[in-house]
Formats: sequence, structure tokens, C-alpha cells
Amino acid sequence: MSGASPTGGLFLTFEGIDGSGKSTQARLLANALRDRGFDVVLTREPGGSPGAEQIRSLVLEGDPDRWSAETEILLFTAARRDHLERTIRPALAAGKIVVCDRFADSTRMYQGLSRGDLRTLVDRLHALMIGCEPDLTFLIDMDPETGLARALSRRTSEERFEGFGAAMQARMRDGFLGLAAEFPDRFRTVAGDRPAEAVSAEVLRLLAPRLEALPRGVPHG
Ligand code: ADP
Ligand code: TYD
Repeated sequence: MSGASPTGGLFLTFEGIDGSGKSTQARLLANALRDRGFDVVLTREPGGSPGAEQIRSLVLEGDPDRWSAETEILLFTAARRDHLERTIRPALAAGKIVVCDRFADSTRMYQGLSRGDLRTLVDRLHALMIGCEPDLTFLIDMDPETGLARALSRRTSEERFEGFGAAMQARMRDGFLGLAAEFPDRFRTVAGDRPAEAVSAEVLRLLAPRLEALPRGVPHG
């Protein structure tokens, strides 16, 4: 983790539009790393700690206009702060690999772009309350229509954002590609419209140079 980094550990995140395959890839990566003997914590945002999971229901359920744009930024940041304190930092301090499905880049995109230009506010609050970035971020790039169809095919009650539709998905995709260009050292962009196993193999290949310095236990199987 860059910024105020504890020793050891590796902080990896997946980003991309809804339905791009982030959760699938996070799970496949966690399993592959465990098979190679690494100690892995698989987690997600919003959520990843008991308090942050409670905030997750507040932000993902109910009317799209339930919160003002500013209140929403505060809620996502509060959830992230708790997740960082209770789950991410302790795992990294113990030398583990943290694989996280979404992190601050999602706030930069969704809260920073979707309801006016609030990126500066998002960045200021991030600097004040979070103050760190992942070591590596995998952007699963995906055609917006395909992503939306996949996301809608597994409908849940957590649809506040999915209800925003195809045009929003397209803006978010462009935004994520822009973010990858803004932080080229940290981002790795991977094409998501392939079989999940092919995407996962590329993620592992891109990650390989970072794994060499990490401690590992006895590989499973
Ligand atoms: P996200 O977390 O980005 O919203 P998910 O991993 O939940 O995406 O995937 C959304 C849906 O698409 C799920 O039903 C999942 O099984 C399916 N899926 C994921 N990856 C692929 C893939 N590479 N090809 C086809 N379907 C996929
Ligand atoms: P997630 O469960 O990852 O949804 P999906 O699997 O469909 O990608 O995230 C739920 C929603 O939360 C998603 O639409 C994006 C949104 N979100 C934000 O708006 N800001 C944030 O900071 C995060 C982490 C997520």
C-alpha cells in the first residue's frame, strides 16, 4: 500500500463498471494466491468490516435520491475508514495479501463524476481520512452494454446505482480508463470480455513481479 504504508503485505484492488467481472476475478485471484501458499484476505467495498457492511445497506438500498451527493461521499468514506482500520491495515501489518473488490477509485468515479463534478471534494476527503492507495489496481475493462446486462441478470435489492442505466455505465467506463491513464504506475487494465479463466490468467501474469518478495507458507494441494 502506498502512502502511510505498514511493513509487508500487498494491497490489490479490482475496479470497473458494474457487471465487468470484478467479484469473479477477485475470488479467482484469491484462490490462485492461496493455492500458491500466500495468506490472503478477500474483501469488498462498500463493506468489508461489520460497521462498513451496515453502511453498505444504507448506500445501496432505497431510492436513488435517498442521499445528497455530498452525504453519499461522506457515507462511502466513513465505510472505507472503518474497513481500513478494522480489516485492511491489520491484514497488511501481518504480511497478508489483501484482495479488495472496489476501493477509493470507485468513489472518484461514482461520487466524483455521476452527479456533477465533485472529484475535488472526493480527493480532499480521501486525503484527510484515507490517505493511502493500493499497491496495484486491476481495471477490468468492459463494454457498458454487456456489463449492464450481466449486472441486471443477477438482480438484488442493492440496485440504487444499477438503476442509473446504460449512459451512466458508459461514462463510468470512460472515467475508469481516464483514471488508469492518470495513475499508470498503479493501474493495470485488463480486457474483461473473455472467459473468466483467461482474464484471471492475465491478472496473475501482471501480478507475478510483485509476488517475489512476499513470504508464503506451504502451498495447498
Ligand atoms: P462485478 O463484480 O464487476 O459486478 P461479477 O463478477 O459479479 O461482476 O459478474 C457479473 C455476472 O457476470 C455474474 O453473473 C458472473 O457470473 C458473470 N461473469 C463474470 N465474469 C464473466 C466472464 N468473464 N464471462 C462471462 N460472464 C462472466
Ligand atoms: P458492487 O457491489 O461492487 O457492485 P457491482 O458488483 O454491481 O459492481 O458495488 C455496488 C455499487 O456501489 C456499484 O454500483 C458502485 C457503487 N459504489 C460507489 O458508488 N462508490 C464507492 O465508493 C463504491 C466502493 C461503490
